[in-house]
Amino acid sequence: MTTAANESLTCHGVAVTLPGVSGPFDILHGLDFSVARGEFVSILGTSGSGKTTLLRVLGGLLPASAGAVHHEGTAVHGPPEGVVTVFQDYAHSLLPWRSVRRNVALGIEATFDRPQRDERVDEALSMVGLAERADEYPWRLSGGMQQRVQIARALAMRPKVLLMDEPFGALDAMTKASLQDQLQKVQELTATTIVFVTHDVEEAVYLSDRVLVLAGSPAAIGLSLDVPLDRPRHQITTKERADYLELRHRVYEALGHDVGVPARTGERGGHD
Ligand SMILES: Nc1ncnc2c1ncn2[C@@H]1O[C@H](COP(=O)(O)OP(=O)(O)OP(=O)(O)O)[C@@H](O)[C@H]1O
Ligand SMILES: [Mg+2]
Repeated sequence: MTTAANESLTCHGVAVTLPGVSGPFDILHGLDFSVARGEFVSILGTSGSGKTTLLRVLGGLLPASAGAVHHEGTAVHGPPEGVVTVFQDYAHSLLPWRSVRRNVALGIEATFDRPQRDERVDEALSMVGLAERADEYPWRLSGGMQQRVQIARALAMRPKVLLMDEPFGALDAMTKASLQDQLQKVQELTATTIVFVTHDVEEAVYLSDRVLVLAGSPAAIGLSLDVPLDRPRHQITTKERADYLELRHRVYEALGHDVGVPARTGERGGHD
């Protein structure tokens, strides 16, 4: 197949059917989209709509029942090199008997010798602001710090693509905002392609170049919305902009929320 030079991941006619209690269950159907290199794409959808399933298919952890996924033009069968998944559940993904440094080294131990490993681990820890905590054990760290350790572990592999499944879902609002900004900076530095699953509409619009909303059953892409807001973005000023608010409104609408009045009318009556 031919792939445009700047395409990282592509889905062509991807469908997923999994066994359910009353027979096969169609979860995803007819997914056609691509993610450009260096692009930040969020995936939203109601609970159970198939976001995690889609991320697993993109990461080669689950085969598509129909259609094809390609990474840089090569069909994905099993996890492709350079594509790393970060799961929501950081507490269970860190090994309590290993220091932060040795947790971050986990994905590169078999591939690199000590000096190269140390260099990558130090770089990844400083990107997430945890250079000072390298010799601690993860259970001594806060939830937000533990999630940063998991992200550092992924960064130490210098991935081309990061697939993130609600990585900030379990964190309080302040920690979440600070990790969002850290992730923005990391992406600015590394130009990593990021596919980011979230429940949080504000987070998706704030971080993304494009937001995809899964809709229907089986789910397909109900909305693909470009987010042309200037970067770097700012937690207060970006979120006060009229164009940010309109994008947010359109995503809520695509998720089936009652948004009061249609965007652009300028009339009062919205409740969000
Ligand atoms: N291994 C599996 N076998 C059978 N069905 C599954 C399996 N994993 C998920 N499903 C079903 O697929 C559908 C989509 O699940 P998925 O976890 O992808 O949703 P989600 O959008 O990530 O939800 P949430 O927002 O709650 O995380 C659900 O109906 C779920 O029950
Ligand atoms: Mg999920």
